[in-house]
Amino acid sequence: MAGVAAMVQAMTSGKGRIALVTGATDGVGRVVAAALGKDGWRVLVHGRDAKRGEALVREIEDGGGSASFLRADLASLAEVRRLAAEVRTTTDGLALLINNAGIGTAGSGRETSADGHEMRFAVNYLAGFLLTYELLPLIKASAPARIVNVSSAGQQAIDFSDVMLARRYSGIAAYCQSKLAQILFTIDLAQELKGSGVLVNALHPSTYMNTTMVRRAGVSPMSKVETGAEAILQLAVSPGIEGKSGLYFNVMNEARANPQAYDAEARRKLRALSLELTGVKA
Ligand SMILES: NC(=O)c1ccc[n+]([C@@H]2O[C@H](COP(=O)([O-])OP(=O)(O)OC[C@H]3O[C@@H](n4cnc5c(N)ncnc54)[C@H](OP(=O)(O)O)[C@@H]3O)[C@@H](O)[C@H]2O)c1
Repeated sequence: MAGVAAMVQAMTSGKGRIALVTGATDGVGRVVAAALGKDGWRVLVHGRDAKRGEALVREIEDGGGSASFLRADLASLAEVRRLAAEVRTTTDGLALLINNAGIGTAGSGRETSADGHEMRFAVNYLAGFLLTYELLPLIKASAPARIVNVSSAGQQAIDFSDVMLARRYSGIAAYCQSKLAQILFTIDLAQELKGSGVLVNALHPSTYMNTTMVRRAGVSPMSKVETGAEAILQLAVSPGIEGKSGLYFNVMNEARANPQAYDAEARRKLRALSLELTGVKA
């Protein structure tokens, strides 16, 4: 048996525990959420499209699992806070948070979020930063617990003089800096969570999986969604990850990220900016 099915079989910790998967209405997030549902996790399916979200909930329930759909547009920090509040009222535990929702490189030009921030920085990074801190008390109380940040091998150093790319915009730069920001955050958060029983890791799931994001960018898919799902599930549930935190994985293997991830001053700057933009008191 290979791939996602083998990973599902290797899962030991799912029964009755609760997982939130953002961006579970499409692509690799959908496959991961369905696999967790099959393994007995109660899955909080996040997305912005109720029809596709409810369809996945039914699919999980038809397979004997348990799931609920939570709608939120992550391009608004108020919506992120509302989503977190809904999670807190829906559940009394959260053993797994997968920050997976994201937007790719395609688009006709620079866009901004409801809060006026550059769109990819806002959705791919800042929303996950805020959601994680909003849910951290619940996650810590559910330890052993894990957080997985679905990043990418597409990484670009953040230019702290133009984080919102107001001067020089390209979709690729916007995507790649947002993906690296997730890794800087992962390393910082792991230090903060030492001894808490909560592990946090980031990964590049797979290269050009056959998903909406890749097709929209006009790229010919090079890998299967199941390959990325297996890599995400490894960080989410594999016993082999015990004791590992603050790491970056290239698909199934630990790897080095862009050098800026290991620059403590860059991490300090990103953290200060993120706290300021979100109002998180950490
Ligand atoms: N595909 C690849 O080869 C690849 C490679 C490296 C990394 N990744 C990463 O893997 C993750 C999943 O990508 P994917 O390829 O599976 O993409 P996808 O098929 O396009 O799915 C993206 C998911 O994120 C949701 N989303 C997008 N914008 C949102 C917003 N503003 N608010 C709430 N949800 C939003 C989408 O909802 P809608 O369905 O409503 O749009 C969808 O559920 C991303 O973080 C991506 O950067 C992918």
